[in-house]
Amino acid sequence: MDWGMANRMHRMFLPVSGNTVMLAVDHGYFMGPTHRLEDARATITPLLPHADALALTRGILRRAVDPTTATPIVLRVSGGATVLQEDLSHEAITTSMHDAVRLNVNAVAMSVFVGAPHEHDSLVHLADLVNEGEDHGLPVMAITAVGKELEKRDARYLALACRVSAEIGAHLVKTYYCEGFSKVVEGCPVPLVVAGGPKLDSDEAALRLARSAIDEGAHGIDMGRNIWQSDHPVAMLKALRSIVHEKATVREALDVLAQEKAQPARPARAAPA
Ligand code: 5RP
Repeated sequence: MDWGMANRMHRMFLPVSGNTVMLAVDHGYFMGPTHRLEDARATITPLLPHADALALTRGILRRAVDPTTATPIVLRVSGGATVLQEDLSHEAITTSMHDAVRLNVNAVAMSVFVGAPHEHDSLVHLADLVNEGEDHGLPVMAITAVGKELEKRDARYLALACRVSAEIGAHLVKTYYCEGFSKVVEGCPVPLVVAGGPKLDSDEAALRLARSAIDEGAHGIDMGRNIWQSDHPVAMLKALRSIVHEKATVREALDVLAQEKAQPARPARAAPA
């Protein structure tokens, strides 16, 4: 791996654990003003100091994130369909590599829709993006998207989607946790991070998901709704960090959550003029 590519990969994964806690706030690109992400700056600002990387689109990066941030940015560069369509797989590359470089991002990310009507297009777009990423030393994260078919998230399907993405050249893959997740890990030669999916019944359920994913070989999380739709997002992010980086059990992470909830809320830093 070339030095620039290797350096950008290492910036996202902390040496202490080899894992990463990415904060995902890219949902608006197809879902619009998602619950508790309506004001992206207000949601992101208090969480950013506790994230190892931030995953979002260029529109929200430019409008909602202070350019003084040192947090590595993972830029979503695919889009083109919204929740108003039945088939969400009709995506293209919507942000050029040129703009990604201009934004000084650390990696680019796109959805791949294996088994969906536009499977072919999304895989060819991934190949093109990897070629450009290699040219510029920018890692590409493939996101194994399932559109509205959440029931697709089983080990057989995800193992196939992750392996295909890695074969095409993705440098890391974001996928879902599932029963038999270790099979997904076993078949994928690049680091896997897991999304949280729609908000689970409790914070504890999300912590359990993270613990199981790490135990079974994930290199971290790229989580959104289970953090910022929690009533205690900063506490939740810190509790997840204890799992991902400090080998905390779910019980210990719940203690972190309880301690952090007891802290008085600090006002978010004001936006620059
Ligand atoms: C949206 C995404 C999200 O970034 C991904 O699903 C992670 O967020 P969440 O934990 O809320 O599922 O790729 O398309």
